[in-house]
Amino acid sequence: MKIIKDMSSQLKKVPQVLMMVTFLGMAIGLSGCGASVDAEAPPLLSEGDTSQGRDAYFDALWKGSYSELDEIIATLKEESNAGDPQSLAVLGFAHSWKLAEYRRDPSNASITDHAKLAADAFSGAIKETPHDARLLGFRGSFRQARGKIENNSLMTALGWLDEVNASNRWPAWGLFTKAYGLITFGPDESLYKQGIGFLWDNLDVCAGESINREAFNLQDYPQLTQPNIDPRIERPCTNTPVVPHNLEGFFLYFGDMYAKASKLEQAETMYLTALGVNPGDWPYADVATKRIERLQELPSLFNLERGSSEQVSVDEINLFQSQISCVACHQGSSD
Ligand code: HEC
Repeated sequence: MKIIKDMSSQLKKVPQVLMMVTFLGMAIGLSGCGASVDAEAPPLLSEGDTSQGRDAYFDALWKGSYSELDEIIATLKEESNAGDPQSLAVLGFAHSWKLAEYRRDPSNASITDHAKLAADAFSGAIKETPHDARLLGFRGSFRQARGKIENNSLMTALGWLDEVNASNRWPAWGLFTKAYGLITFGPDESLYKQGIGFLWDNLDVCAGESINREAFNLQDYPQLTQPNIDPRIERPCTNTPVVPHNLEGFFLYFGDMYAKASKLEQAETMYLTALGVNPGDWPYADVATKRIERLQELPSLFNLERGSSEQVSVDEINLFQSQISCVACHQGSSD
């Protein structure tokens, strides 16, 4: 089994394909069919009409019950086959969760199938719900995973283009998605550095002002933790019912990006920020606490290449590649 979601070597091989696809994307943009900023936030999949599969999925995500996924995927598939477009979108997210947190069960040999299954479900869902940039962004992540697994450079490049387009359409949401995964590059590589830039840009968009990048203190920007009248800002930028620990997960990943790059002072600031958002409330607070305790070890731990079937503690691998890649933000309760 190939290493999943570690697209770095894949992308390294394909600068020309990437340039070609980016150029293609720009050309489409110039001809007027490309992505401009979406005027409205898409409806939440977790609200509105309910279905058995969608209810079960969001309930499991809230509880972190990864083991229920196979059954949930079967139900969502039935609902999608019966023509339910929301269940088709959630089916894409269910395959995404299954693959992203595969380190919970690294011996599962068929896990890589979920990259194509996720990307295909999102492609179908995008046709039904074209105004939801999140579906495009997630398709991008899982096209990249698929490209890596199948050693298909064009697929990887198309995935990146999806993420770029989603981020242009909904920057407050898409900048993180575009940055999430760039930790698989080496810290000296350009895309890694750009990834850190995307996270700062994301904070700028969320705060509605330029954040002080040299001396960051969350308390200087109360708007980052308060309700906002614009749902295009409030939903991706703050903690909400469907993403109860969005800020904590964001800052945990931000810390990991700095830690792998041996910038330990900045890493510690981000971990402390994650812990300070709403003390006592986050099921994964101990992960951030441990990282602070083991700060000096993190650069070497996070630069180790891990075999995809290796069992690795969440304390010794970056958030993106870990068994809490989704639940760090989405899990509400600690049982
Ligand atoms: C940094 C925190 C963070 C991480 C990590 C994260 N998400 Fe999300 N997720 C969000 C945010 C923010 C939204 C947008 C919520 C909105 O639109 O209101 C979102 C939206 C979603 C939605 C749609 C919710 C709805 O009601 O429409 C699903 C499903 C989802 N994420 C699943 C996942 C999965 C699966 C993973 C892991 C591969 C993941 N998320 C990783 C923050 C995160």
